Amino acid sequence: MQLAALVHVGVGAGLVFGGPAVAAAQHTGHGEAGGRRAIAVLVPTAGNAARGTVTFEAVSGGVRITAQLEGLPAGDHGFHIHELGDCSAADGTSAGGHYNPAGAPHAGPDGSPRHVGDLGNVTADTQGTATYDRTDRLVRLDGPDGVVGRGVIVHAGADDLATQPTGNAGARLACGVIGIAK
Ligand code: CU
Ligand code: ZN
Repeated sequence: MQLAALVHVGVGAGLVFGGPAVAAAQHTGHGEAGGRRAIAVLVPTAGNAARGTVTFEAVSGGVRITAQLEGLPAGDHGFHIHELGDCSAADGTSAGGHYNPAGAPHAGPDGSPRHVGDLGNVTADTQGTATYDRTDRLVRLDGPDGVVGRGVIVHAGADDLATQPTGNAGARLACGVIGIAK
């Protein structure tokens, strides 16, 4: 109870004092080295319920990737940036393979070499929700190997981080296109 009360006070203070501070940060931060942002809104493929948002933010040391997902079966699900920003196919296969501009083998997010798109797994709880928060050193937002305009896929199965070239993660449950965010 004591912890819950503290958390509640913290959230309240953030709401009260966050407004002007957030506005000031956006005003001064834009165009500097950090702070450029992109977002993918993931929608379910045919017959599935997985959805959510994935955000990308340029930070010192790479790109911070965060995700809030729901509607997933409990357990691990492969989570990748795919080559194409095309979610038009009912099963998500139009997004192509893992984004891999260097022709590297498939691996986990801490592997080297790896596909740029190899973000590993998200883990859904029994409510079907999953989160992700990781700063990646390989992903770039801009430039010839940038990820804006490419796809994000959440898979039915776990990425085993080893099987070539997909991690054996199975069908595609949700698909989204990475676009520029404010
Ligand atoms: Cu994938
Ligand atoms: Zn891969």
